[in-house]
Amino acid sequence: MTAPARPRTSEQLIRAEEPVLAHNYHPLPVVVARAEGSWVEDVEGNRYLDMLAGYSALNFGHRHPALVEAAHRQLDRLTLTSRAFHNDRLAEFAERLAELTGMDMVLPMNTGAEAVESGIKVARKWAYDVKGVPEGRATIVVAAENFHGRTTTIVGFSTDETARAGFGPFTPGFKVVPYNDLAALEAAVDDTTAAVLLEPIQGEAGVIVPDDGYLAGVRELTRRAGCLFVADEIQSGLGRTGRTLAVEHEGVVPDVLLLGKALGGGIVPVSAVVARREVLGVLRPGEHGSTFGGNPLAAAVGTAVVELLETGGFQRRAAELGVLLREGLTDLIGRGVTGFRARGLWAGVDVDPALGTGREISERLMREGVLVKDTHGSTIRLAPPLTITAEELRSALGALEKVLG
Ligand SMILES: Cc1ncc(COP(=O)(O)O)c(C=O)c1O
Repeated sequence: MTAPARPRTSEQLIRAEEPVLAHNYHPLPVVVARAEGSWVEDVEGNRYLDMLAGYSALNFGHRHPALVEAAHRQLDRLTLTSRAFHNDRLAEFAERLAELTGMDMVLPMNTGAEAVESGIKVARKWAYDVKGVPEGRATIVVAAENFHGRTTTIVGFSTDETARAGFGPFTPGFKVVPYNDLAALEAAVDDTTAAVLLEPIQGEAGVIVPDDGYLAGVRELTRRAGCLFVADEIQSGLGRTGRTLAVEHEGVVPDVLLLGKALGGGIVPVSAVVARREVLGVLRPGEHGSTFGGNPLAAAVGTAVVELLETGGFQRRAAELGVLLREGLTDLIGRGVTGFRARGLWAGVDVDPALGTGREISERLMREGVLVKDTHGSTIRLAPPLTITAEELRSALGALEKVLG
């Protein structure tokens, strides 16, 4: 028997990563060992309020009891079949997710980027099979400052040089237009357009909320042009903004929804393309797939997630506590905060650059026991678990006030 490894300190663990882990991230210097609800604890037992929530993958908090129970129950029964066979959990997951989102069909995948890639493939296939675009000519219109994931096709239409540089050549067939600009979108859409692919709120760009009427305008324009509206709700969806979907704030129903992150309850990667039958129905056996997509463990956890959302309680909480978040941030305007954008329990906060970069502010907040993530320059993003209490939220805002003071 090998002797158990001696426990290592946070500092030792951070140092140990350096030679053996690819340097594609620059994490805050905190090593999390345990978590529950809105709180995480490091190796030394220090507690931090998690105001990032796994980029919204932890909308229901860490280890939500109903989700952990669903996972445990399934772990003891069946974890993977591959789609070569049916499994007894997938039908219910698809039925309930379709019902929750008001759509007809579900294509289960794993990560967000896979859902986006799958959405792109489905939109192109639809363009050739249904719309009649000549083979090889389909285009997809996307927005500047987008973030849809990290595959080569997706970074190919990113406007962030750090995400792109050194990774070409890229997949052709994408047109980039400014976000929140209907005239630019209208000019870019033509007979070859398969879809317009957008985030209803641009998360990584700094929680950019478009003007009222933009999403409704995109819906109207895509309907008139006879192309699909594909909404990437991987970060904005599943309760974060105070509604099940961010598009609901404008009463908009897209043709295709891309979901991920919180769909796996912070336990397993679960993503999905959800759409009307005329769209997802274009896929035939053998044309697309994933070994893990739709596995029974993912389906069991995903079903439990949908069950939590069916109550409407998390959406209500996000809307109600969102008012508190907005009030707290408004109070800080002129006192270190130069501006912010918020919807539900999600905010991009611009800090006076004279007070530090977003990274420096994040490090100071970490020392106050609050974990956040910077986006660009002096912008930080707040996206706590939707289980956070009003008191915890106030304490996070208090910590922000302190580090800016
Ligand atoms: C809107 C959006 N789409 C797609 C992705 C990619 O998801 P994943 O990291 O699971 O591939 C993200 C991740 O941040 C996202 O915010």
